[in-house]
Amino acid sequence: MEALVKELNQHSYNYYVLAMPTIADYEFDQKLAALDKLEKEHPEFADPNSPTLKVGGDITKNFTTVPHRWPMLSLGNTYNEQDLRDFDDRVRKTIGDQFQYVCELKFDGLSISLTYEDSKLVRAVTRGDGSKGDDVTTNIKTIRNVPHQLKNEAVPPLFEIRGEIFMHRAAFDRLNKEREELGEVQYANPRNFAAGTVKMQDSKEVAKRPLDCFLYSLNTDKNYFKTHWESLENLKEWGFNVCEHTKLSSSIDEVLAFIQYWEEARFKLSYEIDGIVIKVNSYAQQQELGFTAKSPRWAISYKYKAQEVETILEKVTYQVGRTGAVTPVANLKPVQLAGTTVKRATLHNANEIERLDLHEGDSVFVEKGGEIIPKIINVNLEKRKEGAVKVNYPTLCPECNTSLIRKEGEVAFYCPNDEACPPQIVGKMQHFIGRKAMNIDGLGDETIETFYQRGLVAHISDLYTLHEKSDQLKTLDRFGERSIENMLKGIEQSKQMPFEKVLFGLGIRYVGETVARKLAVGTKHIDKLTSASLEELVAIDEIGQRIAESIIEYFGKPEHLQQIDLLKGYGLQFEVVEKEITLESDKLTGKTFVISGVFENYSREELKEMIENNGGKILSGISAKLNYLVAGDNMGPSKLEKANKLNVPLISVDDLLELLK
Ligand code: IVH
Repeated sequence: MEALVKELNQHSYNYYVLAMPTIADYEFDQKLAALDKLEKEHPEFADPNSPTLKVGGDITKNFTTVPHRWPMLSLGNTYNEQDLRDFDDRVRKTIGDQFQYVCELKFDGLSISLTYEDSKLVRAVTRGDGSKGDDVTTNIKTIRNVPHQLKNEAVPPLFEIRGEIFMHRAAFDRLNKEREELGEVQYANPRNFAAGTVKMQDSKEVAKRPLDCFLYSLNTDKNYFKTHWESLENLKEWGFNVCEHTKLSSSIDEVLAFIQYWEEARFKLSYEIDGIVIKVNSYAQQQELGFTAKSPRWAISYKYKAQEVETILEKVTYQVGRTGAVTPVANLKPVQLAGTTVKRATLHNANEIERLDLHEGDSVFVEKGGEIIPKIINVNLEKRKEGAVKVNYPTLCPECNTSLIRKEGEVAFYCPNDEACPPQIVGKMQHFIGRKAMNIDGLGDETIETFYQRGLVAHISDLYTLHEKSDQLKTLDRFGERSIENMLKGIEQSKQMPFEKVLFGLGIRYVGETVARKLAVGTKHIDKLTSASLEELVAIDEIGQRIAESIIEYFGKPEHLQQIDLLKGYGLQFEVVEKEITLESDKLTGKTFVISGVFENYSREELKEMIENNGGKILSGISAKLNYLVAGDNMGPSKLEKANKLNVPLISVDDLLELLK
């Protein structure tokens, strides 16, 4: 029992505080149930602080702790039809046969409680331990779907609304890919990414990571509505994002049909769910049913088992990326799982191999819980062959035999041979020509690979001498005159790409698109950048110690400076050219604007351009001098207040278009 308490506490900490779980939810629940059973059989040994008594979660040190006005409870879990029918029987015993259930999706994110006073969002608090949580208001305010100010005035003067913060799969994939490109550790799933984001200290960073929110319950001092369903309908009216896939059911069989439908259909959603929540609809009946120590008796969750299969681990191979990071990949005996054939699974890093204690030929359990890349969750030890060889993470680079290194505080191993390790060289060139960097038409990843193998290119700068090698190019298969011409034209045009793109294209570690832009704006010229000191670099907006050190290390290598000299000689852009704007009109000359909120048909960037192209000026903040505040949805309440106080006129996009007519 003691061992279980200890283990479960560690898993809770990994899940709630670190947002990096190392065990499947199902396994956790099984262990918790085992402990619960033992405690019932031997109450004399039960720990008074047992995890069976806790709602879960923990408090993070760096936020203010706020008590919840109404406790944030958890839900009982069920995994099969019988458990659910038992729940239905229990409900019937207390309230009879006349009732309905509301079936909702169980969003896989983290719960949040939002407090509104006088129609204004005043606080957003995480669940924490259920009675108090972290005040993360500024972070939550960056979420588009969370209204700061309700338009509808006819709402209770004070209420708490609860819901789930999550990240869409597409955003998760994109951001995780960016992290991979920057050599940063990737998140295992969207839930962890969302949880990690909500707990960030810098709200500016949070704003860059698109989070979303579904709301699913209302707490007020007195009951404004008779049923949960009615309250959800009203929440929509008040401007809250309530999920449309919610259903009113009259019997447990209807509930089971809903569960069965979503078991498959869930993979088509743009976000992840891990089950279904069933709630008794009538508030009066909910009250009659009441609560246990940690969950309501009027609601329960049905959790989908992650889809899992057993297959053989054939071998572990290692991929060397552009930054030199060496990533292990499990090659599996092909197997059908959730409608696709799985041949590979991610192993993330060396720690993961150790955690699983992988041996060659192991029979492994592979899970696809809606995540994109399947994952090995466990090894079937009973099937391990005698004398099986343990998988050992290599000490030498699998591509160039250089000794691998691991930087302090990082989980990934790197091959430091960035000048001669083939996949690093090819990867760097592929990054340089990529869409987000130099965007070179007529040149693709495979072509780069071929050119490298034929000895035509070995450095970025070699791309700019390809025109001298057209005889050799013509000898390559599938490379006609037209495609050579196109490619050379694309390469020539890339010389006009702005400095920030060139800088991003160089592939300096930790210098992503945004950082490259900040560096370009902050230094204006490559010579200023290559000679900048650590202090000068960290003084630039958004450049921290880690990025600055990486830049200094990069420009400290003579071969990198030599490349830059060559590229300069070929005519690439290494300084910021201030854009000369040719005005479309001078209709807005002398007028100042601030743009705030979100707009249906325009991005803020487009509106800014529209204003500047017609002679207007964008100001950074609201002051008495300001002529117009272009106001969109979900504008910050403090801005609104200030504008009102200073009598700055608020205009809509339509008003702006009117000014331009
Ligand atoms: S109702 C008292 N509805 O699941 C019950 N919870 O395991 C309050 N969750 O803490 C929760 N989707 O974070 C409810 N439609 C939904 C949900 C949902 C996800 C989460 C929530 C809760 C946990 C309980």
